Amino acid sequence: MGERVVESQEQVQESMWIEIIKRMETIYAELANSQAEIERKNRELIEAKEFTDNIIRSMIDALIVVDSHGNIKMVNRATLDLLGYEEKEIIGRPMEVLFANEDRKPDKSFKGPCFKRLIEEGSVQNLEVDFHTKGGERIPMALSGSVMRDSTGEVIGVVGVAKDLREMKKLVAEAAAAEAERAKAAELEKAYKELQQLQEQLIQSEKMASIGELAAGVAHELNNPLTGILTFSHLLLKNTPEHDAQRADLQVIVDEAVRCKRIVQGLLGFARQKDPEKSPSDINKIIEESLMLLQNQAAFHNIRIIKELNSRLPLIMVDAGQIKQVFMNIILNAAQAMPEGGSLTINTGARDNFIEVKFIDTGCGIPEENIHRLFDPFFTTKA
Ligand SMILES: Nc1ncnc2c1ncn2[C@@H]1O[C@H](COP(=O)(O)OP(=O)(O)OP(=O)(O)O)[C@@H](O)[C@H]1O
Ligand SMILES: [Mg+2]
Repeated sequence: MGERVVESQEQVQESMWIEIIKRMETIYAELANSQAEIERKNRELIEAKEFTDNIIRSMIDALIVVDSHGNIKMVNRATLDLLGYEEKEIIGRPMEVLFANEDRKPDKSFKGPCFKRLIEEGSVQNLEVDFHTKGGERIPMALSGSVMRDSTGEVIGVVGVAKDLREMKKLVAEAAAAEAERAKAAELEKAYKELQQLQEQLIQSEKMASIGELAAGVAHELNNPLTGILTFSHLLLKNTPEHDAQRADLQVIVDEAVRCKRIVQGLLGFARQKDPEKSPSDINKIIEESLMLLQNQAAFHNIRIIKELNSRLPLIMVDAGQIKQVFMNIILNAAQAMPEGGSLTINTGARDNFIEVKFIDTGCGIPEENIHRLFDPFFTTKA
């Protein structure tokens, strides 16, 4: 019996060992398994880190990470290239070395208010700042940043991305310069046009003056012989009996001579260029008077006259007689341009510091090529 007990004790021990070995094998297997798992995880972690490192390295913009005290923890290649630092020269230094103030010195004031505000608000976007390079250069940047917190909500740092604004600022400046250049060119063009206009006016007035002189000379020369013709043809007519067949011919001579005299008088008037006698005048009244003198003429029978006269116009300083002459000529021209009838609209109004009078007829219009000749004296297309 005692032997059997011993035997079974041995058996128990053996099976225990077997059990222990089995368990150890399992544990080893599990260990090996988890070792493989850890290695796999590690590999994955390394890959993930390489991936993010790669992203950070290939970023064009500057990436900067600072800790909760505002000391630089990490920067990417772009930041180092931009600022001219080696990594070891900048890691661990306070973040204000990154920023420049007006005097191109590191900006101590940046850290305080801005960093506090950033922490309070959690993020900033496109804050315009100046970076300070190792060589003392100032680079305009647009900085965006956001606060990093751990799982308990404690601030562990700030990650910031800054974009170099030099190229953009250069483009903006270039665009502004181009715009200024364009404006200058436009101004020059305007000045040139004004000069050209002035020159044309000058040529015009010179032309008028020389034509005036010529006309005055010719008119003066013609005046005396004409007076002779008129006097003697009158005398002849007076002395010719009523039924004489020659009276009609003589009458033609007298009439034509009177016409010549009137033309010569007109030329003399044109050459003398009377100074205008200006007085405060009502432009609408001048128009009404001009119309009154013309309206009953045959040329106006088929023409409807539409008056759009602004009754609240101020009086203006003009020579009423001369302006009336001008208006009558323009109105007559309009009627002559509408032999088959039509309408003439006369419109008055105030614009800026001027009074504007428009004559709009439904006639044939003036061909483009004649427009510039309208102020030439004696220019006509009429037979
Ligand atoms: N309203 C108009 N419509 C069409 N053509 C016009 C008009 N006004 C003027 N013109 C053109 O301008 C030319 C010059 O006009 P302007 O009054 O100086 O002389 P005119 O009418 O020909 O002669 P005058 O006035 O001495 O009888 C006219 O011959 C005509 O061709
Ligand atoms: Mg005319």
